[in-house]
Amino acid sequence: MSNPRLRVAVLASGRGSNLQALIAARDAGALPVDFVLVGSDKAHAGALQLAADAAIPSFTLSPKGFANRLDYDLELFRQLDASGADVLVLAGFMRIIDGEALKPWVGRMINIHPSLLPKYRGLHTHRRALEAGDTEHGASVHFVTAELDGGPVIAQARIDIRPGDDEHQLAQRLLGYEHQLLPAVLRLMAAHRLTLAPPDRVELDGRALSAPLQLRNDDLVD
Ligand code: GRF
Repeated sequence: MSNPRLRVAVLASGRGSNLQALIAARDAGALPVDFVLVGSDKAHAGALQLAADAAIPSFTLSPKGFANRLDYDLELFRQLDASGADVLVLAGFMRIIDGEALKPWVGRMINIHPSLLPKYRGLHTHRRALEAGDTEHGASVHFVTAELDGGPVIAQARIDIRPGDDEHQLAQRLLGYEHQLLPAVLRLMAAHRLTLAPPDRVELDGRALSAPLQLRNDDLVD
């Protein structure tokens, strides 16, 4: 009997173009996973509409009414647990998650971040790359740990910064690569090829990666 498909939950706060890319990859037969739940902290997130359009169950959990971050995060993870998800993808989820609350998910939770980590954790990554005069920019997918944007990096997409690029152009151009990078990483997880050996060793097929995988022509290479 073949293995059951990976059950994936996604958290997103915004428009959800990365979620859309994941759904499109699944629909194209390039990503053998089942999306079991989409969650958001924002009732008007575009991601929720995308989930509805794709008949994926979804929920909004507003932080209003929670006394503190931990209480909110525990309720968030209670709902994610109840979905039976194997893996959780943060696709533009714009909240810091409490380190204790996320512990049970370490090794099963990934995030996409628009910079070449460890450069530019946090916000305004495109602006910061431009201000620094970088000639190269990119996106990273990493395992989520208690450290914000600090978990072990699995894979990256690199792009050149062109003369005259502004923040918006750079963000837009990078987004197209994010939409290939995230499904490619999730595909490896669906094939059970990727593991985190705590605290920070990423393994592909049981072998430690010495550097993040790189996106080339839609595929990840060593
Ligand atoms: C992406 O740039 C992602 O890297 C970052 O947040 C943005 C989300 O965009 N974490 P979208 O909501 O997926 O369109």
